[in-house]
Amino acid sequence: MEARFIFASFLVLFTATSTAVNGKYYSDSHIINAPTTMKKTHLHFFFHDTLSGDNPSSVLVAKPNGTVVEEGNVGPFGAVYVFDDPLTDGPDLNSSKVIGNARGLYASTSRGSDLTLLLSSDFEFTSGEFNGSSISVFSRDPLVVEKEVAVVGGLGKFKMAKGFILLKAIYLNATNGDAILECHATIFHQ
Ligand SMILES: *[C@@H]1O[C@H](CO)[C@@H](O)[C@H](O)[C@H]1NC(C)=O
Ligand SMILES: *[C@@H]1O[C@H](CO)[C@@H](O)[C@H](O)[C@H]1NC(C)=O
Ligand SMILES: *[C@@H]1O[C@H](CO)[C@@H](O)[C@H](O)[C@H]1NC(C)=O
Ligand SMILES: *[C@@H]1O[C@H](CO)[C@@H](O)[C@H](O)[C@H]1NC(C)=O
Repeated sequence: MEARFIFASFLVLFTATSTAVNGKYYSDSHIINAPTTMKKTHLHFFFHDTLSGDNPSSVLVAKPNGTVVEEGNVGPFGAVYVFDDPLTDGPDLNSSKVIGNARGLYASTSRGSDLTLLLSSDFEFTSGEFNGSSISVFSRDPLVVEKEVAVVGGLGKFKMAKGFILLKAIYLNATNGDAILECHATIFHQ
């Protein structure tokens, strides 16, 4: 009877102290040996985002009431743009071949000084081996010269796609916001 009472007391004590313990939010990573028949494809192309001129490829569609959006500044927090940007095989839009388009939207999502967009876009290819296939990009997109964005899916030959795109701004006009980004994509797909 005595022993049983002591055991029960320990149980109560243990239960009472095992809740809400602070700790690290991740476990140790380890390699999983999963067999795969996935393919890996690398793509290299250029992304042209044009805000200026009479025929911009990216337009402001919403902003918080009362805020002013200055030319060339994709902030403030809460501004939303929709774009239909050409993808080319070379850095110069005039002399390069258009090989696809990136359509979607980006929103200014940081309240701090670390200007960051949320990028939600479909990159469709319209020429060559991957004509008609597309990759889905959904990612944080900090406004820095070099960054990476996540590829979360795809269609056509890129079904089941997962991967990332390394983006490098090779041209950025701080006055009007126009940019050319060099893209190196690494994609695992069916
Ligand atoms: C936007 O702000 C103005 C000025 O503060 C106010 O009169 C108007 O009602 C606001 N509009 C909306 C939709 O909140
Ligand atoms: C591309 O063509 C446009 C219009 O023809 C011209 O204004 C622009 O300067 C050209 N850009 C380059 C880099 O040659
Ligand atoms: C891409 O595919 C579309 C639809 O099948 C076709 O009309 C077009 O000619 C193709 N373009 C190239 C460059 O292969
Ligand atoms: C940047 O944009 C401004 C305003 O449109 C323009 O006057 C200037 O020539 C552009 N600079 C470059 C390097 O293209």
